[in-house]
Amino acid sequence: MKSTKTTLITGASKRVGRDIALTLAEAGSDILIHYYRSRRDALQLKKDVESRGVRAEVFKADFSAGVRNLPSAIKRFVRDVYRVAGHVDLLVNNAAIFYPTPLGKITGRHWEDFMTVNLKSPFFLAQEIGMRMRRRKSGSIINLVDWTGLRPHPNYLPYAISKAGLIAATTGLAKALAPHVRVNCIAPGPILPANGATAKQKRAVIKKTLLKRFGNPKDISETVRYLWQGSDFVTGVMIPVDGGALGS
Ligand SMILES: NC(=O)c1ccc[n+]([C@@H]2O[C@H](COP(=O)([O-])OP(=O)(O)OC[C@H]3O[C@@H](n4cnc5c(N)ncnc54)[C@H](OP(=O)(O)O)[C@@H]3O)[C@@H](O)[C@H]2O)c1
Repeated sequence: MKSTKTTLITGASKRVGRDIALTLAEAGSDILIHYYRSRRDALQLKKDVESRGVRAEVFKADFSAGVRNLPSAIKRFVRDVYRVAGHVDLLVNNAAIFYPTPLGKITGRHWEDFMTVNLKSPFFLAQEIGMRMRRRKSGSIINLVDWTGLRPHPNYLPYAISKAGLIAATTGLAKALAPHVRVNCIAPGPILPANGATAKQKRAVIKKTLLKRFGNPKDISETVRYLWQGSDFVTGVMIPVDGGALGS
């Protein structure tokens, strides 16, 4: 076992989360894989991580509005993680939901859905794990946000508002957990199209970038790796990895 660090990644089974897991495993981190529905992918990822010579463990949890007393459920989840892993050096809050909610059709359920999975859960995970990191005087937290948190699309307002909240949470948590724990966020642009996105929708998102193309999960995982291993003098910031969407 070559690893000296342990990383917990939420929603790690597939897509961007899986790439972050494999990239950090290759860089020598043990990986704690959180999943909710994608058990089979999580177990496959565990094997793929272990084949890189580091440890992998799998944890299931629902972070949705349907969970009764979510902060307590998150406390129990974190306790289980620490019982198995001992400690967490890096938390990557990656799990999220994304779907259109045109104005006039937004219900209370939509609102609760987005605010709970995309904002409340990562916040309480960061509080629970951040306090433990603070006691150890070491740790780092990375939140996956979205460039549209700063430039909301009118058809995705609850989503964009949840990500805007997580950007604010990043800045505030960086202050609250300093000087030993760093908290940053990464704001992807179009990296992987949402499942079921049409060719027209894909063209529309690409048009908003300066580079006129989709990025790659590697663009995100290499940024995570930079924040983990590249510099330990970065905290309280948002790094856009968006093909120039914010600058357009
Ligand atoms: N993809 C992009 O181009 C893009 C662009 C901008 C921002 N981002 C952000 O980057 C991150 C990764 O993007 P992605 O597209 O790879 O994400 P994704 O596929 O939409 O979601 C990642 C995972 O979140 C988990 N999740 C959803 N609901 C959950 C719940 N109730 N409880 C626990 N986990 C839940 C799912 O895990 P299970 O499958 O195990 O249920 C899912 O696989 C997200 O935060 C996203 O908002 C992505």
